[in-house]
Amino acid sequence: MTTACRICEAPIEPFMSFGPMPVANGFLGADQFADEYFFELAPAFCGGCGMLQLVEQPDARRMFHGSYPFYASLSRHMSAHFEGVAGEIREICGGADDPFVVEIGSNDGVMLRHLAAAGIRHLGIEPSENVAAVAREAGVETVSEFFDEDFAARVADEHGPATVISAANVMCHIPDLNSVAAGIRRLLAPDGVLRFEDPYLGAMIAKTSYDQIYDEHVFIFSATSVASAFARHGLELIDLTPLATHGGSMRYTLAHAGRAQPSAAVARVLEEESRAGLGRAATYDSFRAACEASRDGLRSLLEELRGAGRRVVGYGATSKSTTVANYCGLSPDLVEFIADTTPDKQGKFSPGAHIPVRPHADFAADHPDFALLFAWNHEAEIREKETDFAGRWIRYVPRVEVVA
Ligand code: SAH
Ligand code: TMP
Ligand code: ZN
Repeated sequence: MTTACRICEAPIEPFMSFGPMPVANGFLGADQFADEYFFELAPAFCGGCGMLQLVEQPDARRMFHGSYPFYASLSRHMSAHFEGVAGEIREICGGADDPFVVEIGSNDGVMLRHLAAAGIRHLGIEPSENVAAVAREAGVETVSEFFDEDFAARVADEHGPATVISAANVMCHIPDLNSVAAGIRRLLAPDGVLRFEDPYLGAMIAKTSYDQIYDEHVFIFSATSVASAFARHGLELIDLTPLATHGGSMRYTLAHAGRAQPSAAVARVLEEESRAGLGRAATYDSFRAACEASRDGLRSLLEELRGAGRRVVGYGATSKSTTVANYCGLSPDLVEFIADTTPDKQGKFSPGAHIPVRPHADFAADHPDFALLFAWNHEAEIREKETDFAGRWIRYVPRVEVVA
């Protein structure tokens, strides 16, 4: 299936398919199984501009709506991370007179609540009304809209130019990146900075963390692809910061072209990406083979444990786990249930695979023999909490293994 690159319109073709996939955060009741929506989850690499992208993505309203179940503040580590981000933004604002900070995808206000508390003029843009409501209760100015070029123009007209535009784990969600970049160019003050962070392509390839590929992640960015996509709209990549969050992310800092000197990190990372082969089609063929080996390894391990009568419970009903459960064909006879702390997910079933999601208390009350670490990106935080779990952990990133 040939389609056009979402950025540069060169013809692209998927290098693999994960098969029919449901909406990753579409936790559902048994009465909804018959109407469940599926799409073809297939990534393609554009040789023209270097962008890794999904050829198909569900409509935004199927993913982001009034019952979006992801509340960023629920993770203690992510809350601390975003408090740090808020501190950095305050410093950047320090020199400006009446600074104005815009956050795209502000969710429950996990970052902006700190700027609100510091009395900094700000605006959160968050289309999922339920999480936006939580942010408003925390004192964060929030509008429930999808950010794009038209909306950016409205914000600029009403509030004036933005000193800082911040976005975390959302830039890679928005299919019309050209419209987003044009909007940022319009809204960003002449000396303003755009900072965004998303799961990093280099980390995904290095770790075979194929579960970064799901409906919301229409792009998996690299420094190369980000520099190229934003340069089309007069924005220049001026700094890069590798982050440990979400299993390996990158923060990109951009400014209007020519306004700031790019840091040494920019040239260094671009060079590393070239050496890692991120621009070569062969890299994605090896990635596909590594995904297939990971899938086969996990399935045979779980089948073996089932044969031996051992209990396996999933830990964390993450969006990423939807790709794993469906691609690997996991079912409740292999994974009894998934324990998760999010009230909105509990009592429902996982998308596609229909594994029951139950409160963490059910895990704690009757420990299984094995915990399948779906929330592997939160491993440090989880291991700190689960010191009395005497069973073993199953990991599948960077390789399938059982650990104490
Ligand atoms: N920034 C938080 C939340 C990330 S989840 C964090 O890093 O943890 C992504 C959020 O972006 C969701 O709350 C979703 O509703 C929102 N979102 C999706 N598309 C958007 C768009 N076009 N404009 C603004 N926000 C969007
Ligand atoms: P994420 O990987 O998309 O951030 O989602 C994390 C999910 O894992 C979310 O549903 C909450 C859940 N979770 C737990 O159940 N227990 C935990 O200790 C942590 C950190 C997350
Ligand atoms: Zn392209």
